[in-house]
Amino acid sequence: MKKVWKLFSVLIVMTVLTGMLAACSGTTGGSSKVSVGIVLPTKDEPRWVQDEQRFKDALADSDYTTEILFSQGSSAKEKENVETLLNKGIEVLIIAPHDGAAAGSAVEAAKKEGVTVIAYDRLITETDAIDYYVTFDSLAVGAAQGQYLIDSAEGKNVPLYLYAGASSDNNAFLFFEGAWKVLQPKIADGTFVIANSSEAEALKDKQELTRDELGKILGQVTTNWDPNEAKNKAQTHLTAAAANLKGDVAVLAPNDGTARSIADVFGTDSDISSFVVTGQDAEKASIQYIIDGKQSMTVFKDVRTLVADAIDMAIDILDDKKPATTGSYNNGKVDVKAKQTDVIVVDEENVKKELIDSEYYEASEFKGL
Ligand code: BGC
Repeated sequence: MKKVWKLFSVLIVMTVLTGMLAACSGTTGGSSKVSVGIVLPTKDEPRWVQDEQRFKDALADSDYTTEILFSQGSSAKEKENVETLLNKGIEVLIIAPHDGAAAGSAVEAAKKEGVTVIAYDRLITETDAIDYYVTFDSLAVGAAQGQYLIDSAEGKNVPLYLYAGASSDNNAFLFFEGAWKVLQPKIADGTFVIANSSEAEALKDKQELTRDELGKILGQVTTNWDPNEAKNKAQTHLTAAAANLKGDVAVLAPNDGTARSIADVFGTDSDISSFVVTGQDAEKASIQYIIDGKQSMTVFKDVRTLVADAIDMAIDILDDKKPATTGSYNNGKVDVKAKQTDVIVVDEENVKKELIDSEYYEASEFKGL
C-alpha cells in the first residue's frame, strides 16, 4: 500500500513538475536553458554518486531541465560549477557544499542573479545568501551511533576510539555533538575510557560542548571524510595504545567509507579481541560488511526522500509557492528554514527489512543475505 502510494505520488510530482516547469521556465526542446542546477561535493564517495543516481531516477521522463555537476572536493571548482549553471539561466540552485563556509561566495554570486538557494544535506554557513535547507536529522545520526556503542558495551572501562568527519563540514560537528551527548555520561560513569583523544579526555566531564570545544576534538580525530586518512589514524592509534586500551573495544566511526577502513585496521590487530564500529549512509559495501559481521551498524539515510524534498521545494519556488518546512537551522548568520528527515539504524537484525524490503537495494547485490 505504502509502495503504491509512493509510486503514485512520484507520478503526480513528475506530471505536475513537467507541465509547470515547461511553463515557468519557458523551456522548449533543444534549448540549453537549465531551470534547476544541482551541485554535489565529490564523485569519489559512493554516497554522492548515489545522490546523483537518485536525482536522475526521480527526474527520468520529465522535461524538467536540470544539470548535476560535481565539485571534486574543491571549493574553486564548486564556484566554477555554480557560475556555469548561472550562465545557463538557473532559477533554483540545489547545492551540497564541499566546504560549508567557503561555499558562501558561490551562493552569494547566485543570490545576486536572483536565484533561490537550497542547501542540500550540508548547511552553508556564515552567509545570508541561502534560502532553504533540506537535510536529515544529523544530531540523531550521531546519537544513534553513540547509543549503539552504549547498547553493545559490556562491563566497565571499555576502550572508546573516537573518529569524526571533516571540520569544513557542519554535519561533522552535528554528528559528533549528537554522539557525545549520549556517550559522555557513559564516559563519566566509567563504562568507557577514551582511547585516542587527549582533547576529548580534557572535556570528558562536559555533556554540552561549545562549537570551539567540538572543534578541538574534531581537529584531533578528524578523518576529513577520507578513508585513507581514517586508516592511517587508526593504525597510529593502535600502535600507540597500551594493553589496557586493547581487548574488546568500541569505535565511533562517522560514516561508512571511514568505518570500513577503520574496521579493516582493527580487524587485523591481534590484541583487539572484538570491536563494535558504527557508520552511516548504508553504502552497498558497508551493507556487505554488516552481513559479513565486519561492520556493526550503519545509519540509513533514505536519499530518495531527500531528493524528493529538494525537488518539491524547487517546484514550489518555480511556481511562486512557499515551500513547506519543518524547522530551522542557524548557520552562524541567519536562521535557515529547513525540511528535516528522520534516519533509521540498520544492523544485521533488520538489514533485509529496511534495505531490501523497502526496495532501496536489490537482494542480488549482496552475498550471504
Ligand atoms: C554527509 C554524509 C557523508 C559525509 C561524507 C556528510 O555531510 O551527511 O552522508 O558520509 O558528508 O561525504
